[in-house]
Amino acid sequence: MASHFVRPNIRAMHGYTPGEQPGTGDRVVKLNTNENPFPPSPKVMQAIRDIAPESLRRYPNPTADGFREVAASVLDIPQDMILAGNGSDDILTIATRTFVPPGGTLAYPDPTYSLYKVLANIEDAKVSPVHWKEGWQLPVDALLATKADAIYLANPNAPSGTFVTPDVVSELAEQFEGLLLIDEAYADFAEDNCLALASKYDNVVVSRTFSKAYSLAGMRFGYAVAKSAVISQMMKVKDSYNCDAISVIAATAAMQDQDYAQMTWNHVKQDRARVAEELTKLGFEVLPSQTNFVFAKVPGGDGLGMYKSLKELGILVRHFDTGTLKPYLRITIGTGQENNALLGGIRELLAKEKAA
Ligand SMILES: Cc1ncc(COP(=O)(O)O)c(C=O)c1O
Repeated sequence: MASHFVRPNIRAMHGYTPGEQPGTGDRVVKLNTNENPFPPSPKVMQAIRDIAPESLRRYPNPTADGFREVAASVLDIPQDMILAGNGSDDILTIATRTFVPPGGTLAYPDPTYSLYKVLANIEDAKVSPVHWKEGWQLPVDALLATKADAIYLANPNAPSGTFVTPDVVSELAEQFEGLLLIDEAYADFAEDNCLALASKYDNVVVSRTFSKAYSLAGMRFGYAVAKSAVISQMMKVKDSYNCDAISVIAATAAMQDQDYAQMTWNHVKQDRARVAEELTKLGFEVLPSQTNFVFAKVPGGDGLGMYKSLKELGILVRHFDTGTLKPYLRITIGTGQENNALLGGIRELLAKEKAA
């Protein structure tokens, strides 16, 4: 049992469970944590090779201004609307510490990214998970009824991959008195996004990451966009040097090479359509995805069984052993070859099942 000197809310809570990360030498088809299947842009790798020893000897710029300047120009917003973070998880941590008081409430449509609950628990705040409406539609009225201090909306959502249009999210922002955080970790794979809402509404924060769209999950870099008055409050909460010098250089080079990033998004979107179509032919129910993964109900409903059997074949996907998610697998879109290996593995397992 944890000792008496640990805060009671920390003793009572469960920590976040990350997806499995096999060693780099392990031969697996890794489709379980929504990484980009392409390497980072060659320009990013060159920028890392060119790092001057001096920029490691010194502390980095505390607010990652080199990145903010480039991001402001790419996104066409003022620099003081941007806060850089050590991955978007850091942005979510900063947001929770800034907007959700101990004893307060964080609401979110559920199921969603399981870190939100963990962050609220750390803050000793309550959570109000609100079920998505039929067809993964945003439950605007039920979210408002929670009277929460903040609402977190992953859009597109994980693990469903589904998307809420900006006009519906606007309805929520307009009527809600607390802070609305729109987690756009997967927005670059979607047909639209809510960035404009951060300029329009005083109570909206949009968070983004370089882990998926820019192939830099190992680097840890993300950012938030909000009105400058909101960003300046979040700046007080962040760690003094929350982004290291190497990550700032890498993310800046990645942001500058939009053509390369766009090429990877186009590939992923094309193969997402192919994987969804093939899985449907094999009897899966595939939710419409606007992300770099698909969420699919396994024929027969034994999600855990299929997850385990694929793992034995060296193919890693994500299974959530909880509630209504149990019959589903969340499958990251990989390279063409990886996707073929996945589909081949599934065909093999279904054929075996049929023969048994
Ligand atoms: C919805 C959502 N938000 C945020 C993150 C975390 O991103 P990062 O790697 O930038 O911390 C993830 C990662 O899987 C995610 O699914």
